[in-house]
Amino acid sequence: MSISLVLGTLLLAGTVIGVPDCVIVSHGDVYIDIILSVYHNENGSCGTVDPESVQQLEAVRWALQNIQETSDMPDITIGLRAHRTCRSTENAAMVAATIAYELTTNNSRILGPEFSSEAMVVSSLLGALPEKHRLPQIGYSTSVASLSDRNLYRNFFRVIPPDNIQISAMERLMVAMNWTYFAAVYDDDAYGREGVASLEKLSKMEGICLTKKILIDTRLSNQETILKLQETLISLMNKTSPILGFVVFGGTKLASNFLHAVNKSINDLPAIPLLILSEAAMNVGTFSLDWPTVLAGSFVLSPPVRKIEKFATYWTSLFHNQTTHIQDSNPWLLDVFKLWSSQSSRHENGTTEELNSVLASSTFVHYAVQATVVLAETIKRVRGDTCKNDDKCPSFFNISRFQLIKKLANIKVDLAEFPIFIKSLESISVFFNGSVDALPQQGSTSYVVFNCQKNIDGTRENCFKEVGSYHRLSNKLNLLNHDIKDYEYPGYAELSWNETRKGQCKNGSVCTSCIIDNPNHVYIIPGELYIVAVVPVHVRGSSPMQCGDVKIGGVDIVEAIDFAIRQSKFQPGVERPIVSVGAIIIDSCIHPMIIKERILTLYRYGIRNDDGSYSQIMMRVIGFIAAWSSDISISVAEILTETRHVQIAYGSTAPILSNRTKYPYFLRLANSDILQIKLMLDIMKDIGANYEWLVPSLDKHLETYEFIFIASEEWGTRPILKDVKNLIGTITVSTDLPVNQKFREHMLNLRTTGEDANPWLQTFMEKELKCHFQWSFNKISSKSCRIDEGLKNDYKIDSWVPLVENAVYALLTGASRTLKKQCGQTSSICDNYRAHVMELVEEIKQVQLDMHGTGNREDIFDQNGDGILAYIIYMVQKQAGEVKYRRLGQSLLFYFVKNLWKNSTNFTGESDLKCGQKTLCSVCFQEQSSEPQTSSYIGFLYSTIALIILCSVSVVAVVFLIIQHRRKGRTKIVGFVCVGE
Ligand SMILES: *[C@@H]1O[C@H](CO)[C@@H](O)[C@H](O)[C@H]1NC(C)=O
Ligand SMILES: *[C@@H]1O[C@H](CO)[C@@H](O)[C@H](O)[C@H]1NC(C)=O
Ligand SMILES: *[C@@H]1O[C@H](CO)[C@@H](O)[C@H](O)[C@H]1NC(C)=O
Repeated sequence: MSISLVLGTLLLAGTVIGVPDCVIVSHGDVYIDIILSVYHNENGSCGTVDPESVQQLEAVRWALQNIQETSDMPDITIGLRAHRTCRSTENAAMVAATIAYELTTNNSRILGPEFSSEAMVVSSLLGALPEKHRLPQIGYSTSVASLSDRNLYRNFFRVIPPDNIQISAMERLMVAMNWTYFAAVYDDDAYGREGVASLEKLSKMEGICLTKKILIDTRLSNQETILKLQETLISLMNKTSPILGFVVFGGTKLASNFLHAVNKSINDLPAIPLLILSEAAMNVGTFSLDWPTVLAGSFVLSPPVRKIEKFATYWTSLFHNQTTHIQDSNPWLLDVFKLWSSQSSRHENGTTEELNSVLASSTFVHYAVQATVVLAETIKRVRGDTCKNDDKCPSFFNISRFQLIKKLANIKVDLAEFPIFIKSLESISVFFNGSVDALPQQGSTSYVVFNCQKNIDGTRENCFKEVGSYHRLSNKLNLLNHDIKDYEYPGYAELSWNETRKGQCKNGSVCTSCIIDNPNHVYIIPGELYIVAVVPVHVRGSSPMQCGDVKIGGVDIVEAIDFAIRQSKFQPGVERPIVSVGAIIIDSCIHPMIIKERILTLYRYGIRNDDGSYSQIMMRVIGFIAAWSSDISISVAEILTETRHVQIAYGSTAPILSNRTKYPYFLRLANSDILQIKLMLDIMKDIGANYEWLVPSLDKHLETYEFIFIASEEWGTRPILKDVKNLIGTITVSTDLPVNQKFREHMLNLRTTGEDANPWLQTFMEKELKCHFQWSFNKISSKSCRIDEGLKNDYKIDSWVPLVENAVYALLTGASRTLKKQCGQTSSICDNYRAHVMELVEEIKQVQLDMHGTGNREDIFDQNGDGILAYIIYMVQKQAGEVKYRRLGQSLLFYFVKNLWKNSTNFTGESDLKCGQKTLCSVCFQEQSSEPQTSSYIGFLYSTIALIILCSVSVVAVVFLIIQHRRKGRTKIVGFVCVGE
C-alpha cells in the first residue's frame, strides 16, 4: 500500500517560497513520517534553514536505506515522509491532524518531532485516537521530563534519556564544582521551562542559589536574541553582586547565540562567563566564533553519544557532490548547501573540519538512527507475526496499528545485531518495558560531562574533552578532577582543579537576593512529636519589623535544644516519649511583634514545606520552650494563654511573668528579678557599710570613677571587660550553671558545609571566625575561612545554655508523665493531654533535675513555677595585669525568698508594686505620683523592682543609675545596670 504524494499541502504559516512543507524522501509500502523543524522560527514564520534538523532527516534516510539493504525484509519497503514545522507547535498540530486524517488509508509511524513542545502536541492528538488507528511515535531528541507520563502520552516512546537525568547530572556537577550562585538562560518552551524549574528545585536543596532566570523567546531572530543576551550579560556580570556562573538550557540556536553574544561583548565584560550548557551546545557550529576563547573552562552535558563514522562520511560526501543533489528528494538540503557556501571561505570541496565548523555532527543523529532501527525492527517483527511465511501477505496492511504500539512496548532490540552500519552502537539495547523511556542499562553511563579545553587536538573545531560520567541508578557523577581545566581571564593561563573559577558569590560582595530567598526563620528537627522553641538567633533590626545581625550566643541556644533532645536518653531523672521528639525552632529576632506573627502562622498554617505548601503540626506539639528575654516570653505567653499550651522559659526574669492569673501555663527556670533585687540590695548595703575596705583593694584609678556598677545577671560574666573601660570594682551577680562538657565538645566540633541542617550555623560561624566560607552569599569580609574551620578552643558558651537544656528535660519529663496518665501511652497526643494542661504544668513543677552538676536532683521550680537558682556574686578585678571576674561567693538568699513566695499564690507582681523612695521615683517614674511612704526596706525594694522592670523591657544597651550615697561631701553613684535583653 502506498500513499499519494502530498506536496505543499494546506499547512499554514509563512511558507518559504518554493520549499514544500512535506516531502516524500523515499517511497515504500509503508511509511515512517518524520516531523522536524527544518527552518528556524523567526517572528512566527519560517526563517533560515536549521542544518541540524536537516542532518537528522538525512540520518534517518541513511539508516533506513542501510537497514533495508542489509536485512531480510522481503517484499516490503519502508518509505520516509518528512514534515517541517518551523518550530511551531501550531504547525506540529496541523501535521498531526493531517496524518490522522490520512490514517484510514495509510500506514505510517511517527518519528519525532524534533522539539518537545511539538512532540507533546502531536502525541496528545494521535494518542487520543481509537486504538485501531493509534500510531506509534518515537522521539529521538525530545527529552522533556513530563513526556514520560504514559497516561498522557499513550502512543509515545523515546530513545533519548529524559531531562530529569540531565538535570540531576547538572546539579551533581554544580555540587562537585562548588557552584552556589548562578543564573539560568533558557528557551521559552517546554524543554527550557521544565528543565530550569526542576534544576532550581534540585539545586535549592543543595543550597545552590539560582539568582536570575532569563527566558528567551524562541521566535526572536538570531540577531535579536544576541542583542538581548549581550544586554543581559553586561548587566548581570557588572552589578554589585556579579554573576559569573551561567547555565544555558535550550536548543542549539540558544547555545549558539549565547556564545556569539559573549564573543561580541568580550571587551565590555569584567570576565568571561563560566558556563554549563545543556546537550544541544554540542551541536553548535563554530564558524565565526573564536571557539575556545568564549567556552574555555566551561562544561557541556550530553547523553552518551557515539559518533557514527559511516554516517559522518555520508554527510560529508553530500557536500562534496552538491551538484548531484539539485533534484534531491530532500529539497531542504539545498538550503543547507547555500548556508554552507555563504559562510565558508571555501565552497564545494571543503574539508571535513570545515564542514564540522558549520555543523558539528548533531548529538541527536545517534538517537535518530537508534529510533529508526527500533521502528524498522518493530515493523519487521509485527509483519513476521502476522504473515508467517506468506511473502505477499495483504492482511498485514489491515492490521490494527495498536499491534505496533504493543510490539514496541515490549520489544528488545540489541543494536549490536546491526553491526554492518552501526559498529559504534554495539552493546546498546533498547527495551521500553511498556514505559515511555527506554530502561537504563545497568552500569552504563547515563550522561556525559565535557569540559572545553584549549588545543585539545589542535583543531579549532573540537575543544571538548570528556571529563565525567553520570549514572542515574546511583545518582553519582564520576568526575576526572585532574583532567578538568579552567583558564584565567585575560591571558588564559591554565588553572588547576582547585583553582578553577566557581559559580559563587564574589568576594567582597553581598548576594542579597539569595539571602532573602532563604529567610530561615525556622529550623525543623524532624520527629513524631515536637517541642516548639523560641530562640533569639538574630537581634532586632534597625528598620521596623526587621531582623538584625546574628546575636552572640543565639546559635548556642539552638544547638543546646538539639543537643538536649539527643542527650535526654542518658540524663538521669529524665523521661521521654517512646517516639522520637523533634523541634521547631523559631527565631524571635528579639522582636515581640515578629515572634507573635511567626507563632500565629505556626498555629494557622503549620510549617512550610520545600514546595511552598504548609503542613499542620500543632496537634503534635507537646509544649513550648520560650523564651530568653522577658518581652518575648510575654508575647508568646499571651498567645499560649489563649491556646492553652504549656511554656517553659529559660531566661526571662521580669516579675510580671510570675502572675499566674495572666499566664497560667507559664513556667521559667530563671529566677524572677525579685530574688535578684533582694540580693543586689543586700550587696549595696554591704558596700555602703564597708566602703573603705573596698577601696584599698582596688586600683587607685578608682578615685577617678564616678560609678560603681552593680550589675544584674544580664551582665553576669559576659566577656565585655576588654571592650568597656573602667569597670574595675563592678559587682555582678549571675546564676551561672556549669556547662556540660559534652555540649562544649559538641560546639567545638561544629562544622558548616553550606548544607547544614541548622540554617543559622554558617552565618554564626562566619561571624565568630570573622571570615566567609566559599559557598557564602555574604562575602563582605574578604578573608576566607578554611573549609574545615571550627570554633576556637576558648569559645565562651552562652551562660543560658544549661537552663535551655534543663528546660528541654523538664518539658520532656512532664509531657511523658502526662501522656502516660491522660492518653495511656507516650507515643501520640490525645485530646485529654490538651484538656488537662494544668496537670501538665503541675507535672513539670514536680520535675527534679541535677542542674548544678552536684550529682543530686533538686527542685527546679518553686510552687509558682518560677526558678530557684542560686546566685553567684562576682567582682571585676585586675589580677596580674588582667581584668577579670572574680568569684566572691554564692548567695543562699534564695532559700529565704523561696520560702517567702512559696505559698503566696496571690502575689500578682506588677500591680502590687508601690513606689517607695521619692527621689528614686522622680527619676524613674515621673508621671507616677505615688504616696510617699516611710523609707522602709520593703518600699525601697519595691521601687527598685519597679526600676528593674523598666530595665527589663528596654532593649537598648545600658540603662543605669540611681542611688546616691553621700559620703564625705562627695557624690558616688552606685548604679544598677541592665544590659539590655
Ligand atoms: C561596569 O561597571 C563599572 C562600575 O561599576 C563601570 O565603570 C563600567 O563602565 C561598567 N561597564 C559596562 C560595560 O557597563
Ligand atoms: C561523491 O564524491 C565522492 C568523492 O568525493 C565519491 O566517492 C562519491 O562516489 C560521490 N557520490 C556521489 C553520490 O556522487
Ligand atoms: C570544592 O570544595 C571541596 C571542599 O568542600 C574541595 O575539596 C574541592 O576540591 C572543591 N572543588 C573545586 C573544584 O575546587
